Amino acid sequence: MTMQQEFSDVSAQLTNTPSGLAEIAKRHLVMNFTPASKYRDDELPVFVRGEHCSVFDENGRRFFDGLAGLFCVQLGYTHGAEVGDAVRDQLAALPFQTTWSVAHPPAALLAQKIAELAPGDLNRVFFASGGGESNEAAIKLARQFHITRGEGTRTKFIARRVAYHGTSFGAMSLNGMTDVRKMFEPLMHGVSHTHNTKRYRRPEGETAEQTTAFLLGELESLIVQEGADTIAAIIMEPLQNAGGSLTPPTPDYFPGVRALCDKYGILLIADEVITGYGRLGSWFGSAHYGFQPDMITFAKGIASAYMPLGGVIASDRIIETVLDGPLGMFNHALTYGGHPVACAAALKNLEIMEREGVVENVAELSPYLGEKLAEVASQHATIVGDLRGDGFHRTFELVTDHAAKRWAETPLNAGDFVGGHLNPALAQAGLLCRVAIDAEGNPLVQVSPPLVMTRADIDELAGLLDQAFTAATASAGL
Ligand SMILES: Cc1ncc(COP(=O)(O)O)c(C=O)c1O
Repeated sequence: MTMQQEFSDVSAQLTNTPSGLAEIAKRHLVMNFTPASKYRDDELPVFVRGEHCSVFDENGRRFFDGLAGLFCVQLGYTHGAEVGDAVRDQLAALPFQTTWSVAHPPAALLAQKIAELAPGDLNRVFFASGGGESNEAAIKLARQFHITRGEGTRTKFIARRVAYHGTSFGAMSLNGMTDVRKMFEPLMHGVSHTHNTKRYRRPEGETAEQTTAFLLGELESLIVQEGADTIAAIIMEPLQNAGGSLTPPTPDYFPGVRALCDKYGILLIADEVITGYGRLGSWFGSAHYGFQPDMITFAKGIASAYMPLGGVIASDRIIETVLDGPLGMFNHALTYGGHPVACAAALKNLEIMEREGVVENVAELSPYLGEKLAEVASQHATIVGDLRGDGFHRTFELVTDHAAKRWAETPLNAGDFVGGHLNPALAQAGLLCRVAIDAEGNPLVQVSPPLVMTRADIDELAGLLDQAFTAATASAGL
């Protein structure tokens, strides 16, 4: 068979038999973190278009996208044509140039815009194509900063337990998710993990202030134990996604982390791949929680995921130090870093976000989302142990043994409940959200919808969750 024939055969299937697409994907597409059952027996949804907060499968069935793609479609699905015009114009003018000793308008203007939005002296932007790549760049920038200052012993990093920072080797090493990292060990040398800010299952009666004191005490003791002069940076998400919408226990948690970094000469990196560009109702989660990092890593929302783009925003001090050092440059490069078409899409995305007041929308509606989800939690108190989060990023933690705050193995273990009852109920309801079983064995249901969600959309989202929880508990007999 020639290439031409093969192409025609596939396109015939694309146009004539839409359901053939799932089989084509199962046969040829290697999917992200996708279990074998999806390639074999399970139904594989094929989404073909989107509108506002919804996507539609090839059979025309609508799903409410309670996850904004993957925490990234800030604008929802309605602005593709407008962003597309900017993309087309850029493709016509200059489809590609590098940022290797040259610049072009989209990268320069986008870097300027990001510097304007970012807190404090974070004025320098290195572009990448996604979140993991951004964290790789931050790792190397932190190392090079310390080497340049004559502190080359600072090679280690501290991250938080259960956190996710990407899948490339450096970023994966930062991960506190044991299952993601352990089969690929040995990884990058010298990453240790401190407790995250999860309060559910902290000792009964412990106040938020006591949790913060415990966490800061533990962090300082880890720094001292590792040897403060061996640590390059601490990396934390302002709101930790993995583990389920983990927020700082008190407003002084992050300032406390900042103070420890200053005390011991350690850089603070905020991984804002999810929290950046509005998810918490501020442009950046670090500003939202009142702390100043030395670097922010970003991706996802910068272009509402309409194009792949990420990067590191670094302080003037870091970049000046590196540029004034013996090498005279940041020793890192990516062919597609600052791709003009992706930067043009991001500039248009930010313009639309400002014009439509998208970040303000999150700030305004976040309390209403909290109320509506709290109603769902109380309607399903038999299985909801905790509801937490901030902005448009919320998580239900499900338990059956409320005293132990755990999902009991009997009569139905967590895996069977999720696979056999909850996931089918969500699919039946037409709701996309993230369901995971956390490191402690409890199911987590996460919602992180498009930031253009309205009050009516929130009502719909809450209604769909209620419907899915009702159906799942009924079929499971809980
Ligand atoms: C906080 C955080 N950092 C980094 C990443 C990795 O981003 P990417 O998948 O674009 O490499 C993710 C992905 O979800 C993330 O949530």
